[in-house]
Amino acid sequence: MAQTRSLQQRLQRIIPGARLEPLRPPGCGAVELLLLNADYPQGALDPEQVRRVMDNPLYWVFCWAAGQVLARYLLDHPRLVAGRRVLDFGCGSGVVAIAAARAGAAEVIACDNDPDALAATALNARRNGVELTLCGDFHAARGELDLIVAADVLYDRANLPWLDTLRARAAQVLVADSRVKDFAHPAYRPLGRFDSCTVPDLDESPEFRDVRLYRAG
Ligand SMILES: C[S@@+](CC[C@H](N)C(=O)[O-])C[C@H]1O[C@@H](n2cnc3c(N)ncnc32)[C@H](O)[C@@H]1O
Repeated sequence: MAQTRSLQQRLQRIIPGARLEPLRPPGCGAVELLLLNADYPQGALDPEQVRRVMDNPLYWVFCWAAGQVLARYLLDHPRLVAGRRVLDFGCGSGVVAIAAARAGAAEVIACDNDPDALAATALNARRNGVELTLCGDFHAARGELDLIVAADVLYDRANLPWLDTLRARAAQVLVADSRVKDFAHPAYRPLGRFDSCTVPDLDESPEFRDVRLYRAG
């Protein structure tokens, strides 16, 4: 398919030798995503390749630890999404948005400010037989939102103010994160801790397997 080829080419311009392959992250039911091949080249990148990766963070080629936890949570608690209008903030590969659609949401808006992430989400939605509305700018999303979900978007502490922005926009917000474990925001209460691992495995520090889930509203 032309869209898959174009994303593959985009990936290979940044990491030569890498490719997209269908993977089923554990715990996400039958959700299948096009992700970076599990045996991706892990050797030292030359300075030019490092520059390209820094300029083009390829978040969408991974299914992040928190994304898997949040997708599982929605599949296990369909009443949170059934018949509701849901926005997935920082959708990446689309894993949480796809789980929300599968769990019966009336409409799911997949939002990411990286056009490649939106292209990957569109491909993955089709692959999983669900329809999503794509959105490149959170502030451009119109209409009432019942629930906002956000997984592994707090990797940069500069993103913490988004907790207020998301809370102001929807009746309920679910945030899962593997990086920031200590946010004490009065509107958010902890729902639990879950063990998870980014797919494909980035061989990261074990602390990033400890995913925290929070709910506001
Ligand atoms: C680490 S990835 C997580 C992707 C996915 N939620 C998952 O768990 O697999 C973070 C994503 O947030 C997106 N992002 C970061 N800041 C954003 C913003 N201001 N608006 C929309 N998306 C944003 C990035 O482009 C990236 O795709």
